[in-house]
Amino acid sequence: MLQDIAREFRDLERYDFRVLTAVETAMRFFDWVPVDDLPSYARLPQEEVDYRIGRLSKHKLVQRKTAHYVGYKLTFTGYDVLGIEALVRRNVIESIGSKVGVGKESDIYDAERENGEIVIVKFHREGTTFRHVKRSRGYFGQAERCSWMLASRLAAEREYEALTSLYGSVVVPKPIAHNRHVIVMGFLNGREMGNTALGNPVTVLANVMLQIKSAYGRGVVHADLSEYNVIVCADGEVALIDWPQWVHISHPNADELLYRDVTNLLSYFARKYQVTKRTEDLVAYVKQRD
Ligand SMILES: Nc1ncnc2c1ncn2[C@@H]1O[C@H](COP(=O)(O)OP(=O)(O)O)[C@@H](O)[C@H]1O
Ligand SMILES: [Mg+2]
Repeated sequence: MLQDIAREFRDLERYDFRVLTAVETAMRFFDWVPVDDLPSYARLPQEEVDYRIGRLSKHKLVQRKTAHYVGYKLTFTGYDVLGIEALVRRNVIESIGSKVGVGKESDIYDAERENGEIVIVKFHREGTTFRHVKRSRGYFGQAERCSWMLASRLAAEREYEALTSLYGSVVVPKPIAHNRHVIVMGFLNGREMGNTALGNPVTVLANVMLQIKSAYGRGVVHADLSEYNVIVCADGEVALIDWPQWVHISHPNADELLYRDVTNLLSYFARKYQVTKRTEDLVAYVKQRD
């Protein structure tokens, strides 16, 4: 979907963004924004809006529906474009590169900053479920309206919050910026543990447990740990990624989630490397204050 974003992005003009933003804003109040209402949201004449909305449609940034009236809504690509545009305008990134990963709930791209630094751009994709997003009225008037936009944005905000509070104490990607459902973070030069053969599994397990312990010390339980959310770097150092589901240690399910995180990792180490440890012992280690 995003493969084309760089190209589409170059094609777009100031007024295209203005109309796209108008659709986004009006979606607080409409499932399908009436085309007749767009001129006032965009502060542009009807003819200009008609021309722009045609271009946005062609690029699949908005979707059109004709029922009793002609209406438009933002697509995920349209939302992506708005997020990227804001990050480019703020000079966070200069250009977006290629896809480096597809997760369950995200698309991951590399991107370049003005100084040549390579960073990671994570687009959250949620919306089919409301896993950790409370049904909230207020944001969009109706709980169901634009649930994918709301859920994706809240997931990104939540992940960004975790990275900000953990960075420096736990090995996590460096938080750089976020906008809407998009996060920009430092690039980790390593591989998912689940796709790597470890030469030193015992050391790696100890490093992972140390990171979980450090996060716990900062009040955070990851709550979605698996061999795919651990990045192993060349020297056996590890980083923990993918934090949108974190909970505070005071959360009623924190203990259960910590136990599950540790169990997931231990069963992987047992299965793949015949390294066996007791979950209880490691959970106690994580919680122990020294
Ligand atoms: N900061 C990063 N540096 C390098 N690779 C990353 C980074 N963040 C994510 N990735 C890659 O993208 C994949 C998916 O990212 P992740 O944050 O786990 O999202 P998901 O929720 O979709 O699983 C990861 O497994 C990893 O391969
Ligand atoms: Mg993941």
